[in-house]
Amino acid sequence: MNNIRIAPSVISADFGNLKEDLRRLEEAGADLLHVDIMDGHFVPNITFGPDIVKRIKSLTSLPLDVHLMISHPRKYVVKFVEAGASNITFHIESEDTPSTAISEIASFDCRVGLSVKPATPLSAVRDHLSQIDRLLIMTVEPGFGGQTFMANMMPKVEQAVEWRAEGKYDYDIEVDGGLDPYTIVPAVQAGAEVIVAGTSVFKNPDLKESIQALRDASAYALYQKAHPEVYETKEEPRVERI
Ligand code: DX5
Ligand code: ZN
Repeated sequence: MNNIRIAPSVISADFGNLKEDLRRLEEAGADLLHVDIMDGHFVPNITFGPDIVKRIKSLTSLPLDVHLMISHPRKYVVKFVEAGASNITFHIESEDTPSTAISEIASFDCRVGLSVKPATPLSAVRDHLSQIDRLLIMTVEPGFGGQTFMANMMPKVEQAVEWRAEGKYDYDIEVDGGLDPYTIVPAVQAGAEVIVAGTSVFKNPDLKESIQALRDASAYALYQKAHPEVYETKEEPRVERI
């Protein structure tokens, strides 16, 4: 077993059958439930608010990894804490002062996450790294499921690993958008530990199989990184033909 955690994204579930989908996710071995909150302002799409999150919480024992894609996270911290979030992640690009939002979330029994959009350099979050529990590096433009993974975000993941070691920080590194059994390979090799996946988990009706496919691919990726010699192609010694 490695330390990779799979966080299926609830926006890809069937909301007409949510109770059943959440039960199937638990049974399939999901580690967390990723919950995307969009306000139609910070991102062009709208999902749902704290009341629905509270309902979701009543239907599952999975920890809720709440990802706020909203302009004013501070306004809703208490609501999402009350709704049962185990983690509240907000964006550095939001309109609130990050350090204030961080201390507000941390003042409750709730883990703090900070996220960066693809166009934002990682240096934007550097001053806050000692105060957070999770760093979410977006691998698509936030707003919609089903987009293409941006492999060019991997240097940010590597940088986050380096800064964590240098500063002896505690955050885990999460990636979100376009993750599947192929794209998870560069993501975990760069150092991502929490993998959000919507489309790729739910497109197979057998959720156990899709989560297992992500686990298998991550195990392969970590093995390949730890044992490069196994994958090196050596030149064959030339055999002279008689
Ligand atoms: C995008 C959301 C993601 C999304 C991922 O704005 O933050 O969590 O659900 O979905 P897939 O895995 O379909 O890219
Ligand atoms: Zn998300």
